[in-house]
Amino acid sequence: MLRRPRRNRYSAARRSLVREPKLDVSQLVYPLFVIDGVNIKDEIPSLPGNFRMSVDHILKEVEDCMKSGLTSFILFPVVDDAMKDKRATYGCKFDNFYVQACKKIKKIFPNVCLISDVAMDPYSSDGHDGLVKNGKILNDGTLEILAKMALVQAQAGFDYIGPSDMMDGRVEYIRTVLDSKGYSNTGIMSYTAKYASAYYGPFRDALDSAPKAGDKKTYQMDVHNRSEALIEAELDIQEGADIIMVKPALHYLDIISDFKANTDIPVAAYHVSGECAMLIAACKNHWLDYMTAMPEVLTSISRAGADIIITYFAKDYAQLRKSQLIK
Ligand code: PBG
Repeated sequence: MLRRPRRNRYSAARRSLVREPKLDVSQLVYPLFVIDGVNIKDEIPSLPGNFRMSVDHILKEVEDCMKSGLTSFILFPVVDDAMKDKRATYGCKFDNFYVQACKKIKKIFPNVCLISDVAMDPYSSDGHDGLVKNGKILNDGTLEILAKMALVQAQAGFDYIGPSDMMDGRVEYIRTVLDSKGYSNTGIMSYTAKYASAYYGPFRDALDSAPKAGDKKTYQMDVHNRSEALIEAELDIQEGADIIMVKPALHYLDIISDFKANTDIPVAAYHVSGECAMLIAACKNHWLDYMTAMPEVLTSISRAGADIIITYFAKDYAQLRKSQLIK
């Protein structure tokens, strides 16, 4: 036998010598759920260890995360039902609690990278990402609302605007409005291949944002489709996206790998709430070991080609790496 792959696995030192590039904490983005009010920290039952937090707690959380080297966060608003309407009006207000939270974080921690969420669903009485008319989700009528939302977010200081709505043409529409108002340095992290997945359940619990009627299949992608993701990538890149995203991550590693192989801009993967929840549940039952299974999951997403990983495990991963409990 001339070739024996096991020779490179002989000792920990040899394994570390030949190891392929390892996921770095700087590549992780931690999702935070912001709720209006003060002194609220309310655990999300279907996503243990994650909380709806008022901004005072969010600030503490950001500070805590920064101690382990996390510098990027994606914020989602938890909006009271009374503030929701058909046109997601509250999301476009320049002083809503969500954009105020961004301003407060940026004031105290100017060096963090903050990513927003642009879509109507957190603010919509229909629970859809777009404008609903006669049971249909309007594409072009939604763009103007998304751009308004993006503009107030850019004004508040978000580093990246994150359109998660899957309307056609929204990246170009938002880019054009931001540029015309002087926000050409605000980036766009586009939810490029966002699938109509069953794995968003805990997130929708957190926001109470599930669709009131129908599903999201006329705008989110069909879970069967692989080549269509490349069309979405081509369009988003042409339209001016700075980062393209695949969502979910773990069940869509093929798409992540396709994006990495076929494009030359940074690829993000959103390791979504349901994907994290199932691992948490298995670990709580002692069916899996969190300390080894969790890093393995994140490593697999990175190995598939993700440059950036948005994950509810970001804080745990960063803390474990810092304390050298995972190497
Ligand atoms: C909505 C949005 C969703 C997520 C992020 N933005 C849910 C949906 O499309 O219904 C899901 C994230 C997660 O599950 O962690 N625009």
